[in-house]
Parts: sequence; structure tokens; C-alpha cells
Amino acid sequence: MRQRLADYRVFWRQFRQAYHTTGAVLPSGPRLCAALSHFVREGDAADGRRILEVGPGTGAVTDRIVRDLGPADHLTLVERNEAFVGHLREHLQAAQPAALAASRVEMVHASVEDLPEEQPFDLIISGLPLNNFSVSLVEMLLGKMMSLLRPGGTLSFFEYVAIRRAKSLVCSASDRERLRGIARVLNELLGPAEIRRDLVLANVPPAWVHHVKKTET
Ligand SMILES: C[S@@+](CC[C@H](N)C(=O)[O-])C[C@H]1O[C@@H](n2cnc3c(N)ncnc32)[C@H](O)[C@@H]1O
Repeated sequence: MRQRLADYRVFWRQFRQAYHTTGAVLPSGPRLCAALSHFVREGDAADGRRILEVGPGTGAVTDRIVRDLGPADHLTLVERNEAFVGHLREHLQAAQPAALAASRVEMVHASVEDLPEEQPFDLIISGLPLNNFSVSLVEMLLGKMMSLLRPGGTLSFFEYVAIRRAKSLVCSASDRERLRGIARVLNELLGPAEIRRDLVLANVPPAWVHHVKKTET
């Protein structure tokens, strides 16, 4: 309980100090974390997989992924916000000591766009607040995450239900145009490649989780 309150405090502070990249008031709830980790739990872990979590924040989704890892899986976390990185190190030491001791979890303090692409990942789980970004940045980040995936690998990410419609009601004309651009970019990615979609109503706010498979060739 004390750990969760500390997580909420850090998250709220970063929401105020770095709204643009934090993008949420609260960490993801348990149902949303479970939906994001679906393919970690359900996929074939026999040979050990390379898994990447982008934007772990205070570690809510990370905890669920670690719980779902197969015995030979390896998880990399990439987080750009220094305050989250410091807090997450402490969080993992308290919540996931066995996984850390076995070197099954590695933390990288960087932006995902700076990760090298030589060793592709089998699964990527993203917490990036895409609807806060410019259209070109969303295009670049989605392209980068697909480049970091091996052929046949899966990218799972979420967005809050009707968030673009809700924002469009109160934002400027140029922001509306930006949100329309993001919808177009997402549709281009999801149309041919989405293999599963989960509606998570038991989250604040409710969210869609999209799962996209990279083509085999
Ligand atoms: C909406 S929060 C999600 C936090 C956590 N995954 C959760 O669901 O509770 C977005 C996270 O993405 C991180 N982030 C934003 N842009 C990033 C980037 N380019 N590379 C890596 N992390 C980024 C933020 O610092 C923040 O931790």
C-alpha cells in the first residue's frame, strides 16, 4: 500500500511537471496492465523471448509483465524521464528482487527513438501517450517500434476510449487537425496489422488495447 501511494505521488508530480510526455494522471490499473501483457502470458515462451516495455513510468505494467514472464524471457525497460527512472529502480528492488537478481530485467534511461535496432524484440509493450504528440512524432515513434520488432513479433499499446473525440470538443482548430492526423496514422498501422483489440472498462479512464503483428517477411 505504501509503495502504491509513493507510485501515485511520483506519477502525479510528473503529470504536472512533464505533462506532455507523461500523458496520464494515474498509473495504469490492474486490468489494463493485464491486457497489455496478454501476449507475454499467452505467447510461446519455450525459447526465451526478448521483451521491451516502452515508458514504464512507475512500473505498474512492468510488475504485471514480470509476473507473466516465461523462465527464459528477458525484459528491457526504456524510460526517458529521469524522475521515473530513479523511482522505478527503487520500485523494482522492492517489488521484483528475484527478477533483478537473475538479471531478467534491465533498465535503459533513454528515449525509445535512440535504441539500436540490431537485436530485435519478440514483443513490445508501449505506454507512450501518443495523443499528446505531433503527427510526425507519432509516425516516427510507431515506425521505430515496428523497426525494433522482429518479423512476426507483436506490439501492444493503449489509448483511452474516445480520447481524441473528447479532446476535439475543447481544443483549438490546429489541435483538432493534429488529432485527425494521429487517427489517420493509427488507422494506417492498425488496418492491416491489428490481430486483437481489448476494451478495458475497469480502468480510469477506460482504454482500448491494440495488438499489432509485424508481417513475417
Ligand atoms: C502514460 S505514461 C505510462 C506509464 C506506465 N506504463 C503506466 O501505464 O502506468 C507514459 C510514459 O512514457 C514515458 N515516455 C514518453 N515518451 C517517451 C519516449 N520517447 N521514450 C521512452 N519513454 C517515454 C513517460 O516518461 C512516461 O513514463
